[in-house]
Amino acid sequence: MLKIGICGGTFDPFHNGHMALISAALDSGRIDRLLVIPAGDPPHKQHEPVMPAIYRYEMTRKSLRDIPSTRVVDLEILKEGRSYTLDTIRMVRAEYQEPTEIYLIYGSDIIYDLEKWHEPEALLAECTMLLAIRGGDDEKRVSKLAARLNKKFNAKIELFKAPKIELSSTEIRERIIAGKNWKKSVPGPAAAVISDNKFYTLISSLEMLNVEDRGKTGKLERSIWPWLTHKRLLHSANVMLYAIKLANEHGVDLYQAAAAGLLHDCAKCLQHDQLMDYAARAGDEQLLQEELAHGPAGAVMAKEIFCITDQEILQSVHYHTTGRAGMTKLEKIIFLADKIELGRTYHDLDPIREAAETDLDQAMLICLTEVESFLRRSNRPSHPYSLDAISEIRQKNKKE
Ligand SMILES: [Fe+2]
Ligand SMILES: [Fe+2]
Repeated sequence: MLKIGICGGTFDPFHNGHMALISAALDSGRIDRLLVIPAGDPPHKQHEPVMPAIYRYEMTRKSLRDIPSTRVVDLEILKEGRSYTLDTIRMVRAEYQEPTEIYLIYGSDIIYDLEKWHEPEALLAECTMLLAIRGGDDEKRVSKLAARLNKKFNAKIELFKAPKIELSSTEIRERIIAGKNWKKSVPGPAAAVISDNKFYTLISSLEMLNVEDRGKTGKLERSIWPWLTHKRLLHSANVMLYAIKLANEHGVDLYQAAAAGLLHDCAKCLQHDQLMDYAARAGDEQLLQEELAHGPAGAVMAKEIFCITDQEILQSVHYHTTGRAGMTKLEKIIFLADKIELGRTYHDLDPIREAAETDLDQAMLICLTEVESFLRRSNRPSHPYSLDAISEIRQKNKKE
């Protein structure tokens, strides 16, 4: 029988403690494969912000890329509502054609609370619990308790040895934010993805959203997940956090900024024909070109697929590539956040980032004129919408 291990967690961030547990589980020889499952909407964390699922997924996926027999799955991320372990086991089992034995992998400390879990008897009937005894754990007490539960529930609780790595996600997050000595606590690939995108720098954006809006953005992220590549999802989450920051600085509704930021590129990964079909339905012929069509196409998708009715959000998605004359504050925020989110590596973003803190028009002007001169250097014309936006800001500047 195929032996599948399951290791779940919030992975915010994925760190060396998770890695040690996973490696020890594989080394124990009890499992053939290991599925690592980042949590979707962790119900016990409703009141503290959890980073977007794509951040946690990418840190985990990249860290495990070279570890054979492991696979990171988005099963819980894509599941609406609360994920119970029992549901996850059943979903995993349904994925395999052959008979499987499921092994749930945890640190041994969970054994003390196991009986308080959701339907422990049903859970223990469906799987074997594979618990890590780490240095400092009370092995005797755990073994005794395991024997008692095995008898009581006719369960299979087994133990394996793992190294003790004392790490707290909360502490690592705090050290990342403070820029203090954190890289040794996370696997190299996770450290790289954290540094490249400056994860946690904008955690304040999530903290600013109320619980309900945080839930709504989580739901939106889940909705766009199947439509985008991981790279595009990461960029979209980065744009969302930057847009919330700018919205807060400029008195714009934070949820509108979050939703528009997440959605702005939702049509970016469509096949050409489908992209053009959606874009054509927006009725804006000036944007029916390959590189620009995902704006209007995205606005149509946002309305029809993701049920967004807020016109301001839809317009921000529609015009995010070119800008236009008469942009709302939200449109400017999305246009800018797309160009200056913290994962962007173009040089000379600092003046735009600085200007955007206090003066959206000034930041737009710097950004639009840079695009204009880039296009001129490559012998391409600027889009008329962008030229309109530039001349509108210049005229406004003259008047002042
Ligand atoms: Fe875009
Ligand atoms: Fe974008």
